[in-house]
Amino acid sequence: MADRFGKVSDEEDGLKVSMTINGREVSDDVEPRTLLVHFLRENQGLTGTHVGCETSYCGACTVLMDGKTVKSCTMLAVQASGSDLTTIEGVADGESLHPVQEGFWERHGLQCGYCTPGMIMSAVGLLEENQSPSEGEIRHAIEGNLCRCTGYHNIVKAIEYAASRIRGEEPAAPDWNHEEVSA
Ligand code: FES
Ligand code: FES
Repeated sequence: MADRFGKVSDEEDGLKVSMTINGREVSDDVEPRTLLVHFLRENQGLTGTHVGCETSYCGACTVLMDGKTVKSCTMLAVQASGSDLTTIEGVADGESLHPVQEGFWERHGLQCGYCTPGMIMSAVGLLEENQSPSEGEIRHAIEGNLCRCTGYHNIVKAIEYAASRIRGEEPAAPDWNHEEVSA
């Protein structure tokens, strides 16, 4: 069986895994050692889930499994068999962005974007449980997601924006809109 680098493995035969990903039932043979993140990216072509550290530190690989956030580099594909997964490719509603995606756009919650899919998945997981999170609860929810660019401030504002949208409220104005003009 070929591994992810195209080499032929002399390991025992692959295992069949089946799961639902973004509402679609999938089934494939994998080597027992295949990480879920590699299954998503390489077997399923869902490359929106990023690989940063592969050591459970950065959160770039975060997805939702049965409604809970998991770091997909920390588990094997076979462990996810039978579960219901949502990846970043599955959060938008057709052409309409998810409120969290809209929030990241509207509040400039990204720079290079490498952490963004994982950040968004953590935020989606939070807001599915709590539509009115405090700033502290937002920061706690994303503490497993590292961003080396933004300083986190705009990410928090993006999630606050999304929470308002989900509650059907008008989001607060961006905090860079200052009225004062020098005379
Ligand atoms: Fe999974 Fe960094 S790639 S936590
Ligand atoms: Fe670059 Fe977060 S936007 S790592």
